Amino acid sequence: MSVELEVVEDPAARCASMLLEVAGSGSHIVLTGGSTPRSAYEQAARDPGVFDGTTLWFGDERCVPPDDQRSNYRMAKEALLDALGERVVVNRIEGERGAAEASDRYEARLREAGEPPFDLLLLGLGPDGHLASLFPDQQVLSVRDRLVVGVPEAGLEPFVPRVSLTLPVLASSRRIVFLVSGSSKADAVVAAFGADAKPDPHVPASMLPPLADEITVLLDPPAAARL
Ligand code: 6PG
Repeated sequence: MSVELEVVEDPAARCASMLLEVAGSGSHIVLTGGSTPRSAYEQAARDPGVFDGTTLWFGDERCVPPDDQRSNYRMAKEALLDALGERVVVNRIEGERGAAEASDRYEARLREAGEPPFDLLLLGLGPDGHLASLFPDQQVLSVRDRLVVGVPEAGLEPFVPRVSLTLPVLASSRRIVFLVSGSSKADAVVAAFGADAKPDPHVPASMLPPLADEITVLLDPPAAARL
């Protein structure tokens, strides 16, 4: 297990270059939601041909329609997917079906695809230390026999039910990259990845390093300020 902290002025640009490095025929990439990745996706979208043959997945989704302002799919569609068109296969989490049905269907899709090892999995970090839609002190953090879970109550805005990959599935990715920016994340960065960080359900991201092989945390200086 290795956690590499990369402090860069523009983490989104670094993330875009990582996406372009991994994309290509046969590769499986997991996109993250939230707002930080938008710029990384827009930068990666400038080179759509690189994505030919790539399969895209989502790490989590809000249980809203795909055209809802709160949809992770909608953000990715606007910033990246529309530019890629038929070049890629997109596996959308159908959040509009509700947490239970959407998680079952997404899990079935993953199993049907042969649970491909993800070549790259992108994650954000919440100010509360959540990753994907796995929020502090929730029972879903201990789920080990499912690939995907429904999350009835989100721990942060937007307070809608969610669907999320589980910790073991997140950890199984060949390469994991957190994209973190802003001073509001500085405390969560220390709690999750600092020198004294220990796996703690109160800080869900801290639970990933012991389960994963290789994690890179891309940080801007404000997010790294408390390290
Ligand atoms: C979501 C995301 C979530 C996000 C963090 C950080 O559905 O909201 O998957 O895990 O990555 O909340 O979000 P920002 O990057 O927008 O701060």
